[in-house]
Amino acid sequence: IPSVRTVLAGHFPIGAAISLPQTLGEHARLLSKHFNSVTPGNALKWDATEPTEGTFRFADADAMVDFARANGMQVRGHTLVWHNQTPAWVFLDANGQAMTPTAANKTLLLSRLEAHIRGVVGHYGSDIATWDVVNEVIDENQSDGLRRSRWFEIAGLDYIRTAFRVTRQVAPDAKLYINDYNTNVAAKRDKLYNLVSQLKAEGVPIDGVGHQMHVNVDWPSAAETEAMIQKFVPLNVDQQVTEMDVSIYTNSGESFPTPPRDRLIRQAYKYRDLFDVYKRYSSEITSVTVWGLADDDTWLDTFPVVRNDAPLLFDEQLQAKPAYWGIVDPT
Ligand code: XIL
Repeated sequence: IPSVRTVLAGHFPIGAAISLPQTLGEHARLLSKHFNSVTPGNALKWDATEPTEGTFRFADADAMVDFARANGMQVRGHTLVWHNQTPAWVFLDANGQAMTPTAANKTLLLSRLEAHIRGVVGHYGSDIATWDVVNEVIDENQSDGLRRSRWFEIAGLDYIRTAFRVTRQVAPDAKLYINDYNTNVAAKRDKLYNLVSQLKAEGVPIDGVGHQMHVNVDWPSAAETEAMIQKFVPLNVDQQVTEMDVSIYTNSGESFPTPPRDRLIRQAYKYRDLFDVYKRYSSEITSVTVWGLADDDTWLDTFPVVRNDAPLLFDEQLQAKPAYWGIVDPT
């Protein structure tokens, strides 16, 4: 069967989120045949790379970067700053207590942030050409649009400014992204747009907006995704689809022991229709990544509830699904 990376050549690289097992055996064969980009799904997060202060661990991510190089694939670096998967020590003050919002704690937190970025981004140099510098910083329910994370509570917007400026210093040639979910929702993407617009006006080095695209068989429509991309065109930023998967579920109450055939068909049409939009906007969309290689390993098996989901292009036996054909033969 045709490789996805060949079918999409001329549009954009196609990536998959991976962990170490995807670089071995049959998974590795499938991965290198169909994809020309990878994103370590967890191995570059703070809890993996700097579990205790000043002690960096790169073994898993290094193995994935080596695999990518050996197979002619790009690597997306995900992610330097997030409110999840960040070790508790990051937010402890000089006395080992939870940080309160003081000037001293802000200074300490930003110095830890800078050291983290120097350690991680410096380790990879030009091997990682794209970084999700900050992840999920928007909360559309706040009037200012800014998520009340520990980062924000202690450092305000300066954690974002510092993260981008330090990453740019350490990796001047890398593309630096702000990444978020639900950018198909107007209220959410408008807040993201306003933030990026403000920060770019200040001179903060943001190169791109990442759309996670955790979607489902019914949502969003192609028109909503087209509006999502169009919204950011005036900002002159690159855009990437960073974490796409298409859940077979349309609400958190559903659960199927095996994926119903009609859901897999609807899923195929959703992949087809959304990839049609991406391709029409190839001049804006510089990469598309799906959040997993095959349905045997997907985070949606445990999120938002424990149930068997099947959101990817290949099934649990690594066989091509209707979703694969939706991309490869979109007629
Ligand atoms: C997920 C991973 O896939 C899981 O293995 C982990 O347990 C939790 O995080 N948005 C993101 C990703 O930006 O980092 C998340 O990845 C999925 C949602």
